[in-house]
Amino acid sequence: MALSFTSSFANSAKKELYKDSSVPIKDRVEDLLKCMTLEEKVGQMNQYVGLEHIRTAGRTLTEAQLKNNTAQAFYPGITDKDVAAWTEQGLIGSFLHVLTIKEANELQHLAMKSRLQIPILFGIDAIHGNANAPDNTVYPTNIGLASSFDTALAYKIARQTAAEMRAMNMHWTFNPNVEVARDARWGRCGETYGEDPYLVSQMGVQAVRGYQGNLDSENDVLACVKHFVGGSEPINGTNGAPADLSERTLREVFFPPFKACADAGAMSFMMAHNELNGMPCHEDSWLMSDILRGEWKFKGFVVSDWMDIEHIYDLHAAAPSIKDAFCQSILAGMDMHMHGVKWQEDVVALVKEGRISESRIDESVRKILTIKFRLGLFEHPYADEKNTMKVRLSPEHRATALQAAREAIVLLKNEGILPLDSTKYKKVLVTGINADDQNILGDWSAVEKPENVWTVLRGLREAQPNTNFDFVDQGWDPRNMSQAKVDEAVNKAKDADLNIVVAGEYMMRFRWTERTSGEDTDRSDLDLVGLQNELIQRIAASGKPTILILISGRPLSINWPAKHLPAIINAWEPGMYGGRAIAEILYGKVNPSAKLAISIPRTSGQVQQIYNHKPSQYFHPYAVTESTPLYPFGYGLSYSTYKYDNLKLSTQKISQNGLVEVSVDVTNTGKMDGDEVVQLYIRDCFSTYTRPVKELKDFARISLKAGETKTVRFTVTPDKLSTLDKNLKPIVEPGDFVVMVGASSQDNDLLKQTFTVE
Ligand code: BGC
Repeated sequence: MALSFTSSFANSAKKELYKDSSVPIKDRVEDLLKCMTLEEKVGQMNQYVGLEHIRTAGRTLTEAQLKNNTAQAFYPGITDKDVAAWTEQGLIGSFLHVLTIKEANELQHLAMKSRLQIPILFGIDAIHGNANAPDNTVYPTNIGLASSFDTALAYKIARQTAAEMRAMNMHWTFNPNVEVARDARWGRCGETYGEDPYLVSQMGVQAVRGYQGNLDSENDVLACVKHFVGGSEPINGTNGAPADLSERTLREVFFPPFKACADAGAMSFMMAHNELNGMPCHEDSWLMSDILRGEWKFKGFVVSDWMDIEHIYDLHAAAPSIKDAFCQSILAGMDMHMHGVKWQEDVVALVKEGRISESRIDESVRKILTIKFRLGLFEHPYADEKNTMKVRLSPEHRATALQAAREAIVLLKNEGILPLDSTKYKKVLVTGINADDQNILGDWSAVEKPENVWTVLRGLREAQPNTNFDFVDQGWDPRNMSQAKVDEAVNKAKDADLNIVVAGEYMMRFRWTERTSGEDTDRSDLDLVGLQNELIQRIAASGKPTILILISGRPLSINWPAKHLPAIINAWEPGMYGGRAIAEILYGKVNPSAKLAISIPRTSGQVQQIYNHKPSQYFHPYAVTESTPLYPFGYGLSYSTYKYDNLKLSTQKISQNGLVEVSVDVTNTGKMDGDEVVQLYIRDCFSTYTRPVKELKDFARISLKAGETKTVRFTVTPDKLSTLDKNLKPIVEPGDFVVMVGASSQDNDLLKQTFTVE
């Protein structure tokens, strides 16, 4: 269908007040609300999956999958035609999983035929770029971005993502995910900014600012802070399992990033799948009303997660029917329902029965309409199909994706073999499931055109055209590797000068049930899956130098490689330019600088393995095996060495609201220019309630030329010293505090000085 989208209001003879962009938004909202029927109001709280998504699910899923697979929205008996008709009747306020500009514009066109012409708000999981929809820039996922410790980069990526989204008529990203990841078994670690509340907060806030701008231009999108809360420490590591966390732990560890994002002006929140302390988050009025709106003064709207209001009834069994679940959720503070057929009818009925007041519905609708007005959707409901690719995948955005990949890749081990000497290694064997696969893009990515993805093999061949890279394909599927292919690689290894094994997890969404990491893909162990260990060990047994590159969204317990291989790179999910950036690092064109945003445990039995644990956690260490992580938070190597010196505090004593200025000299003592992430940790030596052995409170990413020294300065403010008193109110307690500054969270990487709060 060829549509002309010049004027959305061409047919309306007289302009209603709410359609007049010169009128203040508040008045436009009230005017529109007055015109709306109850059905239309509830429709604004109603979100659906796109028509193509429904068609595809109908084509590809079996009867049994339709019953059990809540991951694919499909509503038996409801067709795309029904959904299109409801859109035309103004009964659907938002869509998600619309993946093309064409479909977005077509749906918007249907909405423009409705009585009040309220535009659709399109939501999408643009987690690392708008990667869920093809033909957009794919940046590293959040865990890699956090490993850069580059908050300006987080802002820039969010800004660029917003522009790419708007260029395809998308207005709302379901990101940032600011859950504090404390369990490596959980498949969603890659979507998060890691295990430290301070780092997560800093990255999350920049993402919110980048996405939203002032929420008033055609390059701004609504951010959605998720998932509120506790799902990142599930009792058994599986997604959506119960979380049982004290209010103290919530306020110390899990709440701070959410509060920081609310303070930064985030205008939507998504609730978490899980129950928290016995109550499904989706009906928790303490979370939605008391904390979020009451304490934090959040003015935006709350959306449910996928089927999770229904799950209050059909999973948690905490409501006698779906209708009751809707009622409980709305009364607790829910504003929008992420897709499902019963919402519209049931919620209208609940109001008619007097169980929910219409004014309660108005509260939600007001917030949703306000966002639509602020984003200018009434004036610009469509995106320009002709010019969309001028914004998406632009040279500037591509350059940022490459920069981000370079900054996100962590060098875990190097016994001097890296950077590689191309004159020495003429014949190189490349193998492993991730050597030449789009999986390098990471979770929440669509399949892309091959020319837009730099796999490791492609990156290597482009970087070193004179090297003979011999490739043995191990397929993409770690669960079903071929013994013959492993044998073939092993045979070739002894004839190579160097072997590069690209291993890890598989995260691509289009193979939802076959992958090994990502959403709903949790593990009971953290080892390499399938024949990957055998492949690595037998190739290394060739006697030829063998290096390992990991592509993964979660930490992996690579104990054998850590002990026996001369070099290991953890590239996380580095995005479209991942392979190029890896090759640049391998050959020394780029000096690695990333530091782990999450600890790597030696085994899943060590979970919870976090650097900021309480003092008693290892009072009795594990028997037989070690208690320390394989690689700790904040750790990452460079081709340079950095010397820390001269840690100074401005004072040894301060009052409870005093400040301490901290300075440290950092020198690049290596031969290569580089970036270093300088980390500042605090230890509260005595406290009424126990405090972690270390807490990251500041960091700085600095560039140092070879031989250069810079003095890095931090200010320790009272909020960085505060703990929670018995009423869970922040307080700075008198006593000694240790300031630790250095290159990682490991003790021997840190300089220390003490001061006293009097
Ligand atoms: C995930 C959310 C996501 C939503 C929509 C859910 O399964 O938990 O993070 O935003 O789907 O795709």
